[in-house]
Amino acid sequence: MKEDNGSANEALGEALNEALNEALNEALFEPKIVGFLCNWCSYAGADKAGGAQKSYPPNVNVVKVMCSGRVDPQFVLKAYDGGADGVLILACHPGDCHYKEGNYRALARHRMLLRMLEQHGIEAARCRFDYVSAGEGDRFVKILTEMVDTVRALGPLKALV
Ligand code: FES
Repeated sequence: MKEDNGSANEALGEALNEALNEALNEALFEPKIVGFLCNWCSYAGADKAGGAQKSYPPNVNVVKVMCSGRVDPQFVLKAYDGGADGVLILACHPGDCHYKEGNYRALARHRMLLRMLEQHGIEAARCRFDYVSAGEGDRFVKILTEMVDTVRALGPLKALV
């Protein structure tokens, strides 16, 4: 009987520890975001924000691409697989792509990507596509901050299925 109580207490202790660790991890959670930024507009927008000493969350690892149309869906899946909790794809505004239609292709791919992510159990809000021009440092900061807040509220990404 005593042994039964002992192992029940031990199991209860382990369950409590696990619950406490989970709560603590959630409270301390800082989202990891991978941001694919088009060289000509969005990356320059990020530079503008930096040059103007705007502050924004340090949660984004930037990957500079020549055009948002270069972002293969496999890159995005790889980012999640590598530990990202969210992915941001930032492009030139419609009509401003230096390769004419790259951003339109990127937008179409993003729609397809969201369906793929759904199949992997990844919420659409973890993958955002948006536009930032070279002069929009404030817009860059706003989008980045919103993305970090959104992903923080969603919590850490569970492993890909
Ligand atoms: S060059 Fe910027 S999206 Fe194509």
